[in-house]
Amino acid sequence: MCDPDSGPAAISDNVLKEETNEKKADGETETLSKRQRKRLLRHQQWEEQRDLRKQKRKERKQKRRLERQAQAEDGAEWIGKKRFRREAEPSSLKLVVDCSFDNLMVLKDVKKLHKQIQRCYAENRRAAHPVQFYLTSHGGQLKQNMDEINKGWVNWKDVHITAEHFHEVLKKEELVYLTSDSPNVLQELDEAKAYVIGGLVDHNHHKGISFERAKELGIAHAQLPLGSFVKMNSRKVLAVNHVFEIILAYLEKRDWQEAFFTVLPQRKGATPVGQEGKLDQSEEEDENGEQDSDGDLESNEKVLEKRCDAQEQTDAKRREQAARLDKSEDASKEQTVA
Ligand SMILES: C[S@@+](CC[C@H](N)C(=O)[O-])C[C@H]1O[C@@H](n2cnc3c(N)ncnc32)[C@H](O)[C@@H]1O
Repeated sequence: MCDPDSGPAAISDNVLKEETNEKKADGETETLSKRQRKRLLRHQQWEEQRDLRKQKRKERKQKRRLERQAQAEDGAEWIGKKRFRREAEPSSLKLVVDCSFDNLMVLKDVKKLHKQIQRCYAENRRAAHPVQFYLTSHGGQLKQNMDEINKGWVNWKDVHITAEHFHEVLKKEELVYLTSDSPNVLQELDEAKAYVIGGLVDHNHHKGISFERAKELGIAHAQLPLGSFVKMNSRKVLAVNHVFEIILAYLEKRDWQEAFFTVLPQRKGATPVGQEGKLDQSEEEDENGEQDSDGDLESNEKVLEKRCDAQEQTDAKRREQAARLDKSEDASKEQTVA
């Protein structure tokens, strides 16, 4: 960047010299030529705006500092004005959402499932260890709704979307159906496996349906180790996106308790085992016995939106700060022009 005080200041020095010479030669005060008057005016303006320029330099510095600070906070990389996703280390674990229950749902619940799937996709895209995401038996009402509401899904990256059933796409030996009704409790995640989540929003009208499906197909099944780590004031049946996110969180934290508490909404009344006494009684009564895996989409949404939008909020804040600085820069420019 050029020295702000070099150009016009140097010119105006010459102007003054010229002026002085002229005065000396004539021996009396000469009226300045049009060109000289213009140059003198420019010089005066330049001097008057010295503070403004200093202020602008300060603001630019502050803007750059803020950007660097934000970059350090979220581990993201900034190249020019573009923000890049933090370096992700993909997991080899496959996570399948089995959409073969489509005809068991009313449209309202299909729409909820669509939202849950969108969340799964968004969370996986920003995860530290994204899984190999499969959406199988994709068709029927769900596909129609996805086409109608937001056709953007056709451009989704890093997700295998197929109309085929998961057992046609993946090997039987690698499949584990996740279901709260299984007597087997997951201890560890095996990254060589394909874990299946039932793509269903049913307010538990179809109790045990995913467990039955696993048995019919003769594939392994397991439930999440919720009981060992959290005391829930509602049933242990979770929404598709909760299960999905818990798996993502576990892959990052390698700690079930942390994974559950990062993901589960407050309304489910999740408390660490051993701290149950601290549970709010009214909340417990409100939730007890209610399947909360999809009926609480509102709170579900809030929590998910909070998580999904946390990054966007940081970005928005950053954009706001940048806009404020831009605005004040513009105002300075306007002042300069005026
Ligand atoms: C809303 S639930 C569906 C409930 C349905 N009545 C059933 O029996 O599958 C959606 C899916 O999340 C998974 N899921 C929910 N809670 C779970 C838990 N505690 N452990 C393992 N998987 C769970 C299952 O794959 C389930 O099919």
